[in-house]
Amino acid sequence: MSNLRTMAKLVGNRQGVLLVSLWRRVLTPVCRAAFLTSAVHNGVLRLLADQPRTAEELALALGAPAEAGPRLRGWLDVGVELGELGRRGDRYRLRGRLSRALVRPGNEAVAASLEQMVSYQIPALLHAPAMIKDGRRLTLGDMDGEVTARASRVLEPFIEAAIERVVDRGRPVRLLDIGCGTGVYSRHAARLNPLLTGLAVDLQQDVADQAAANLARWGLADRVDTRRADLRELEPGEPFDLVMMHNNIYYFSEGERVAVLERARRLLAPGGRLLLTTSCRDGNVGLRILNLWFDLADFGGPLPHHHELLAQLEGAGFTEVQATRLMPGQAFRAFVGVNG
Ligand SMILES: C[S@@+](CC[C@H](N)C(=O)[O-])C[C@H]1O[C@@H](n2cnc3c(N)ncnc32)[C@H](O)[C@@H]1O
Repeated sequence: MSNLRTMAKLVGNRQGVLLVSLWRRVLTPVCRAAFLTSAVHNGVLRLLADQPRTAEELALALGAPAEAGPRLRGWLDVGVELGELGRRGDRYRLRGRLSRALVRPGNEAVAASLEQMVSYQIPALLHAPAMIKDGRRLTLGDMDGEVTARASRVLEPFIEAAIERVVDRGRPVRLLDIGCGTGVYSRHAARLNPLLTGLAVDLQQDVADQAAANLARWGLADRVDTRRADLRELEPGEPFDLVMMHNNIYYFSEGERVAVLERARRLLAPGGRLLLTTSCRDGNVGLRILNLWFDLADFGGPLPHHHELLAQLEGAGFTEVQATRLMPGQAFRAFVGVNG
Protein backbone atom coordinates (compact mmCIF):
# COMPACT_ATOMS: atom_id res chain seq x y z
CA MET A 1 0.00 0.00 0.00
CA SER A 2 2.72 2.44 1.00
CA ASN A 3 4.60 1.50 -2.23
CA LEU A 4 1.52 2.36 -4.22
CA ARG A 5 1.23 5.65 -2.39
CA THR A 6 4.89 6.42 -3.11
CA MET A 7 4.40 5.56 -6.80
CA ALA A 8 1.32 7.76 -6.98
CA LYS A 9 3.26 10.61 -5.39
CA LEU A 10 6.11 10.16 -7.87
CA VAL A 11 3.81 10.09 -10.91
CA GLY A 12 2.13 13.27 -9.73
CA ASN A 13 5.44 14.96 -9.16
CA ARG A 14 7.36 16.25 -12.21
CA GLN A 15 10.74 16.04 -10.50
CA GLY A 16 10.02 12.43 -9.49
CA VAL A 17 9.13 11.49 -13.08
CA LEU A 18 12.29 13.16 -14.34
CA LEU A 19 14.39 11.38 -11.71
CA VAL A 20 12.93 7.96 -12.54
CA SER A 21 13.45 8.54 -16.25
CA LEU A 22 17.01 9.78 -15.63
CA TRP A 23 17.83 6.65 -13.64
CA ARG A 24 16.36 4.31 -16.19
CA ARG A 25 17.64 5.93 -19.38
CA VAL A 26 20.90 7.61 -18.33
CA LEU A 27 22.32 6.77 -14.92
CA THR A 28 21.85 2.99 -14.95
CA PRO A 29 23.70 2.61 -18.31
CA VAL A 30 26.45 4.94 -17.00
CA CYS A 31 26.80 2.84 -13.82
CA ARG A 32 26.84 -0.34 -15.92
CA ALA A 33 29.57 1.08 -18.18
CA ALA A 34 31.68 2.18 -15.19
CA PHE A 35 31.23 -1.14 -13.36
CA LEU A 36 32.08 -3.24 -16.44
CA THR A 37 35.11 -1.07 -17.25
CA SER A 38 36.45 -1.45 -13.75
CA ALA A 39 35.72 -5.19 -13.73
CA VAL A 40 37.55 -5.64 -17.07
CA HIS A 41 40.48 -3.40 -16.11
CA ASN A 42 41.07 -5.06 -12.75
CA GLY A 43 40.72 -8.58 -14.10
CA VAL A 44 37.62 -9.36 -12.01
CA LEU A 45 35.58 -10.56 -14.98
CA ARG A 46 38.40 -12.92 -15.95
CA LEU A 47 38.71 -14.25 -12.37
CA LEU A 48 34.96 -14.85 -12.15
CA ALA A 49 34.85 -16.44 -15.61
CA ASP A 50 37.36 -19.03 -14.32
CA GLN A 51 35.26 -19.91 -11.26
CA PRO A 52 32.79 -18.40 -8.76
CA ARG A 53 34.65 -16.76 -5.86
CA THR A 54 33.97 -15.09 -2.54
CA ALA A 55 34.79 -11.42 -1.98
CA GLU A 56 37.73 -12.53 0.23
CA GLU A 57 39.11 -14.81 -2.50
CA LEU A 58 38.76 -12.01 -5.04
CA ALA A 59 40.50 -9.54 -2.72
CA LEU A 60 43.43 -11.95 -2.38
CA ALA A 61 43.54 -12.57 -6.14
CA LEU A 62 43.66 -8.79 -6.69
CA GLY A 63 46.62 -8.50 -4.33
CA ALA A 64 44.65 -6.98 -1.42
CA PRO A 65 44.49 -8.58 2.05
CA ALA A 66 41.53 -10.94 2.66
CA GLU A 67 40.25 -8.42 5.26
CA ALA A 68 39.48 -6.08 2.34
CA GLY A 69 36.73 -8.56 1.33
CA PRO A 70 33.83 -6.70 3.01
CA ARG A 71 34.71 -3.44 1.23
CA LEU A 72 35.09 -5.24 -2.10
CA ARG A 73 31.66 -6.79 -1.45
CA GLY A 74 30.10 -3.31 -1.63
CA TRP A 75 31.48 -2.92 -5.16
CA LEU A 76 30.54 -6.49 -6.17
CA ASP A 77 26.97 -5.96 -4.93
CA VAL A 78 26.61 -3.03 -7.34
CA GLY A 79 27.43 -5.53 -10.10
CA VAL A 80 24.77 -7.88 -8.71
CA GLU A 81 22.20 -5.06 -8.60
CA LEU A 82 23.01 -4.22 -12.23
CA GLY A 83 22.48 -7.89 -13.15
CA GLU A 84 26.08 -8.26 -14.41
CA LEU A 85 27.08 -10.53 -11.51
CA GLY A 86 25.15 -13.22 -9.69
CA ARG A 87 25.61 -14.36 -6.10
CA ARG A 88 24.89 -17.77 -4.62
CA GLY A 89 25.62 -17.89 -0.89
CA ASP A 90 28.77 -15.81 -0.55
CA ARG A 91 30.16 -16.70 -4.01
CA TYR A 92 29.99 -14.29 -6.93
CA ARG A 93 29.82 -15.39 -10.57
CA LEU A 94 29.28 -13.81 -13.99
CA ARG A 95 25.63 -13.46 -14.83
CA GLY A 96 24.93 -10.64 -17.28
CA ARG A 97 24.98 -10.95 -21.05
CA LEU A 98 27.59 -8.18 -21.32
CA SER A 99 29.90 -9.35 -18.52
CA ARG A 100 29.97 -12.84 -20.02
CA ALA A 101 30.50 -11.55 -23.57
CA LEU A 102 33.37 -9.23 -22.59
CA VAL A 103 35.57 -12.12 -21.40
CA ARG A 104 34.79 -14.38 -24.36
CA PRO A 105 37.88 -15.06 -26.54
CA GLY A 106 37.83 -12.79 -29.59
CA ASN A 107 36.16 -9.90 -27.74
CA GLU A 108 39.34 -8.43 -26.18
CA ALA A 109 39.34 -5.43 -28.53
CA VAL A 110 35.72 -4.61 -27.69
CA ALA A 111 36.58 -4.79 -23.97
CA ALA A 112 39.54 -2.44 -24.56
CA SER A 113 37.26 -0.05 -26.52
CA LEU A 114 34.91 0.10 -23.55
CA GLU A 115 37.85 0.88 -21.28
CA GLN A 116 39.18 3.52 -23.68
CA MET A 117 35.79 5.23 -23.94
CA VAL A 118 34.97 5.22 -20.22
CA SER A 119 38.45 5.89 -18.82
CA TYR A 120 39.85 8.34 -21.37
CA GLN A 121 37.21 9.72 -23.71
CA ILE A 122 34.22 10.31 -21.36
CA PRO A 123 36.48 12.34 -18.99
CA ALA A 124 37.28 14.61 -21.97
CA LEU A 125 33.55 15.11 -22.51
CA LEU A 126 33.10 15.79 -18.81
CA HIS A 127 35.93 18.28 -18.45
CA ALA A 128 36.03 20.00 -21.86
CA PRO A 129 34.32 23.30 -20.92
CA ALA A 130 36.43 23.71 -17.74
CA MET A 131 39.62 22.76 -19.60
CA ILE A 132 38.87 25.25 -22.35
CA LYS A 133 38.12 27.94 -19.74
CA ASP A 134 41.37 27.25 -17.84
CA GLY A 135 43.47 26.66 -20.97
CA ARG A 136 44.34 23.14 -19.79
CA ARG A 137 45.46 20.54 -22.33
CA LEU A 138 45.52 16.75 -22.45
CA THR A 139 48.90 15.12 -23.08
CA LEU A 140 50.01 11.83 -24.60
CA GLY A 141 50.41 10.61 -20.98
CA ASP A 142 46.65 11.04 -20.43
CA MET A 143 46.04 8.12 -22.76
CA ASP A 144 47.14 4.54 -22.07
CA GLY A 145 49.04 3.58 -25.24
CA GLU A 146 48.62 -0.12 -24.52
CA VAL A 147 44.81 0.13 -24.09
CA THR A 148 44.62 2.31 -27.22
CA ALA A 149 46.59 -0.25 -29.22
CA ARG A 150 44.27 -3.05 -28.06
CA ALA A 151 41.12 -0.99 -28.65
CA SER A 152 42.23 -0.10 -32.19
CA ARG A 153 41.98 -3.79 -32.99
CA VAL A 154 38.17 -3.54 -33.35
CA LEU A 155 39.00 -2.15 -36.78
CA GLU A 156 41.26 -5.08 -37.62
CA PRO A 157 39.10 -6.93 -40.19
CA PHE A 158 38.52 -3.71 -42.14
CA ILE A 159 42.17 -2.66 -42.08
CA GLU A 160 43.27 -6.16 -43.04
CA ALA A 161 40.99 -6.01 -46.09
CA ALA A 162 42.65 -2.70 -47.08
CA ILE A 163 46.14 -4.21 -46.62
CA GLU A 164 45.19 -7.16 -48.82
CA ARG A 165 44.46 -4.72 -51.64
CA VAL A 166 47.92 -3.08 -51.54
CA VAL A 167 50.48 -5.77 -50.63
CA ASP A 168 52.22 -7.14 -53.72
CA ARG A 169 52.63 -10.92 -53.57
CA GLY A 170 55.37 -13.10 -54.95
CA ARG A 171 58.22 -10.55 -54.86
CA PRO A 172 60.30 -9.06 -52.04
CA VAL A 173 58.53 -6.08 -50.49
CA ARG A 174 59.93 -3.60 -47.94
CA LEU A 175 57.28 -2.40 -45.47
CA LEU A 176 57.32 0.51 -43.03
CA ASP A 177 54.55 0.45 -40.39
CA ILE A 178 54.37 3.88 -38.72
CA GLY A 179 52.68 4.00 -35.29
CA CYS A 180 52.54 0.21 -35.36
CA GLY A 181 50.58 -0.30 -32.09
CA THR A 182 50.47 -4.02 -31.33
CA GLY A 183 52.18 -4.88 -34.65
CA VAL A 184 49.19 -6.85 -35.97
CA TYR A 185 49.16 -5.06 -39.33
CA SER A 186 52.84 -5.79 -39.97
CA ARG A 187 52.00 -9.40 -39.12
CA HIS A 188 49.09 -9.42 -41.57
CA ALA A 189 51.22 -7.98 -44.39
CA ALA A 190 54.02 -10.46 -43.60
CA ARG A 191 51.60 -13.38 -43.74
CA LEU A 192 50.31 -12.25 -47.13
CA ASN A 193 53.80 -12.18 -48.62
CA PRO A 194 56.50 -14.48 -47.17
CA LEU A 195 59.15 -12.38 -48.95
CA LEU A 196 58.11 -9.21 -47.14
CA THR A 197 60.54 -7.64 -44.66
CA GLY A 198 60.22 -4.34 -42.89
CA LEU A 199 60.38 -1.93 -40.02
CA ALA A 200 57.65 -1.23 -37.47
CA VAL A 201 57.99 1.95 -35.40
CA ASP A 202 55.99 3.61 -32.67
CA LEU A 203 56.47 6.91 -30.90
CA GLN A 204 55.78 5.42 -27.47
CA GLN A 205 58.50 3.24 -25.96
CA ASP A 206 56.12 0.88 -24.12
CA VAL A 207 54.03 0.37 -27.26
CA ALA A 208 57.12 -0.30 -29.39
CA ASP A 209 58.41 -2.76 -26.76
CA GLN A 210 55.09 -4.61 -26.75
CA ALA A 211 55.02 -4.71 -30.58
CA ALA A 212 58.58 -6.11 -30.61
CA ALA A 213 57.58 -8.80 -28.10
CA ASN A 214 54.47 -9.66 -30.14
CA LEU A 215 56.35 -9.86 -33.45
CA ALA A 216 58.97 -12.11 -31.80
CA ARG A 217 56.19 -14.33 -30.41
CA TRP A 218 54.68 -14.56 -33.89
CA GLY A 219 58.05 -15.71 -35.30
CA LEU A 220 58.57 -12.49 -37.29
CA ALA A 221 61.47 -10.88 -35.40
CA ASP A 222 63.90 -11.78 -38.19
CA ARG A 223 61.67 -10.18 -40.86
CA VAL A 224 60.29 -7.09 -39.12
CA ASP A 225 62.59 -4.87 -37.05
CA THR A 226 60.73 -2.97 -34.35
CA ARG A 227 61.81 0.14 -32.52
CA ARG A 228 60.70 3.38 -30.92
CA ALA A 229 60.86 6.18 -33.46
CA ASP A 230 59.06 9.35 -34.45
CA LEU A 231 58.07 9.51 -38.11
CA ARG A 232 59.14 13.17 -38.10
CA GLU A 233 62.71 12.11 -37.36
CA LEU A 234 63.01 9.06 -39.64
CA GLU A 235 65.71 9.62 -42.25
CA PRO A 236 65.47 8.01 -45.70
CA GLY A 237 67.60 4.86 -45.92
CA GLU A 238 66.86 1.72 -47.91
CA PRO A 239 63.57 2.76 -49.55
CA PHE A 240 60.26 1.11 -48.70
CA ASP A 241 57.71 -0.22 -51.19
CA LEU A 242 54.80 0.27 -48.81
CA VAL A 243 54.32 2.68 -45.92
CA MET A 244 51.34 2.11 -43.62
CA MET A 245 49.82 4.61 -41.19
CA HIS A 246 46.84 3.19 -39.36
CA ASN A 247 44.75 5.30 -36.98
CA ASN A 248 47.33 7.97 -36.30
CA ILE A 249 47.06 10.90 -38.73
CA TYR A 250 45.25 12.82 -35.93
CA TYR A 251 48.34 12.47 -33.73
CA PHE A 252 49.72 15.22 -36.00
CA SER A 253 48.33 18.78 -35.99
CA GLU A 254 46.45 19.87 -39.09
CA GLY A 255 49.24 22.33 -39.87
CA GLU A 256 51.94 19.65 -39.96
CA ARG A 257 50.03 16.96 -41.87
CA VAL A 258 51.30 17.85 -45.34
CA ALA A 259 54.92 17.90 -44.11
CA VAL A 260 54.44 14.60 -42.25
CA LEU A 261 52.90 12.95 -45.31
CA GLU A 262 55.69 14.32 -47.46
CA ARG A 263 58.24 12.77 -45.09
CA ALA A 264 56.41 9.44 -45.39
CA ARG A 265 56.51 9.79 -49.19
CA ARG A 266 60.27 10.46 -49.17
CA LEU A 267 60.79 7.13 -47.39
CA LEU A 268 59.16 5.33 -50.34
CA ALA A 269 60.82 3.98 -53.48
CA PRO A 270 59.56 5.51 -56.75
CA GLY A 271 56.17 3.91 -57.44
CA GLY A 272 55.87 2.85 -53.77
CA ARG A 273 52.54 3.28 -52.03
CA LEU A 274 51.19 4.78 -48.83
CA LEU A 275 48.21 3.10 -47.18
CA LEU A 276 46.65 5.34 -44.53
CA THR A 277 43.50 4.39 -42.63
CA THR A 278 41.60 6.73 -40.36
CA SER A 279 38.25 7.64 -38.89
CA CYS A 280 37.05 10.87 -40.43
CA ARG A 281 35.14 13.78 -38.99
CA ASP A 282 31.73 12.95 -40.47
CA GLY A 283 31.20 10.17 -37.91
CA ASN A 284 28.98 9.12 -35.00
CA VAL A 285 29.03 10.39 -31.41
CA GLY A 286 31.98 8.12 -30.48
CA LEU A 287 34.07 9.65 -33.26
CA ARG A 288 32.96 13.15 -32.25
CA ILE A 289 34.31 12.47 -28.74
CA LEU A 290 37.57 11.10 -30.19
CA ASN A 291 37.74 14.28 -32.24
CA LEU A 292 37.14 16.36 -29.09
CA TRP A 293 39.91 14.46 -27.24
CA PHE A 294 42.46 15.35 -29.89
CA ASP A 295 41.16 18.92 -30.05
CA LEU A 296 41.83 19.25 -26.30
CA ALA A 297 45.28 17.64 -26.50
CA ASP A 298 48.59 19.50 -26.62
CA PHE A 299 49.57 17.42 -29.63
CA GLY A 300 47.80 16.25 -32.75
CA GLY A 301 44.59 17.70 -34.08
CA PRO A 302 41.03 16.88 -35.06
CA LEU A 303 40.02 13.89 -37.16
CA PRO A 304 40.42 14.75 -40.83
CA HIS A 305 37.63 15.64 -43.21
CA HIS A 306 38.17 13.11 -45.95
CA HIS A 307 38.30 15.70 -48.77
CA GLU A 308 40.91 17.71 -46.80
CA LEU A 309 43.08 14.63 -46.31
CA LEU A 310 42.89 13.87 -50.04
CA ALA A 311 44.12 17.42 -50.76
CA GLN A 312 46.89 17.08 -48.13
CA LEU A 313 48.08 13.84 -49.75
CA GLU A 314 48.23 15.58 -53.11
CA GLY A 315 49.98 18.53 -51.47
CA ALA A 316 52.58 16.07 -50.15
CA GLY A 317 53.32 14.95 -53.72
CA PHE A 318 51.33 11.70 -53.87
CA THR A 319 49.66 10.78 -57.15
CA GLU A 320 46.70 8.49 -57.93
CA VAL A 321 45.28 9.45 -54.53
CA GLN A 322 42.09 7.61 -53.61
CA ALA A 323 39.82 7.23 -50.59
CA THR A 324 37.57 4.23 -49.93
CA ARG A 325 35.03 3.71 -47.17
CA LEU A 326 36.06 0.57 -45.24
CA MET A 327 32.94 0.05 -43.10
CA PRO A 328 29.51 0.41 -44.68
CA GLY A 329 27.86 3.60 -43.48
CA GLN A 330 30.78 4.50 -41.16
CA ALA A 331 33.30 7.31 -41.47
CA PHE A 332 36.30 4.96 -41.45
CA ARG A 333 38.30 5.17 -44.67
CA ALA A 334 41.45 3.94 -46.42
CA PHE A 335 43.54 6.46 -48.35
CA VAL A 336 46.09 5.26 -50.91
CA GLY A 337 48.66 7.38 -52.75
CA VAL A 338 51.59 6.58 -55.01
CA ASN A 339 55.05 8.11 -54.83
CA GLY A 340 55.65 9.21 -58.39
C1 LIG B 1 45.63 4.73 -32.14
S1 LIG B 1 47.20 4.01 -32.14
C2 LIG B 1 47.07 2.91 -33.53
C3 LIG B 1 48.02 1.76 -33.49
C4 LIG B 1 47.98 0.84 -34.71
N1 LIG B 1 48.42 1.50 -35.91
C5 LIG B 1 46.58 0.32 -34.91
O1 LIG B 1 45.88 0.81 -35.78
O2 LIG B 1 46.18 -0.57 -34.14
C6 LIG B 1 48.26 5.27 -32.84
C7 LIG B 1 49.71 5.00 -32.62
O3 LIG B 1 50.48 5.92 -33.40
C8 LIG B 1 51.65 6.22 -32.66
N2 LIG B 1 52.22 7.49 -33.14
C9 LIG B 1 51.70 8.71 -32.98
N3 LIG B 1 52.51 9.66 -33.51
C10 LIG B 1 53.58 9.01 -34.01
C11 LIG B 1 54.79 9.45 -34.64
N4 LIG B 1 55.04 10.75 -34.81
N5 LIG B 1 55.69 8.52 -35.03
C12 LIG B 1 55.45 7.20 -34.79
N6 LIG B 1 54.33 6.74 -34.17
C13 LIG B 1 53.41 7.62 -33.80
C14 LIG B 1 51.15 6.31 -31.24
O4 LIG B 1 52.20 6.18 -30.30
C15 LIG B 1 50.13 5.19 -31.18
O5 LIG B 1 50.68 3.99 -30.67
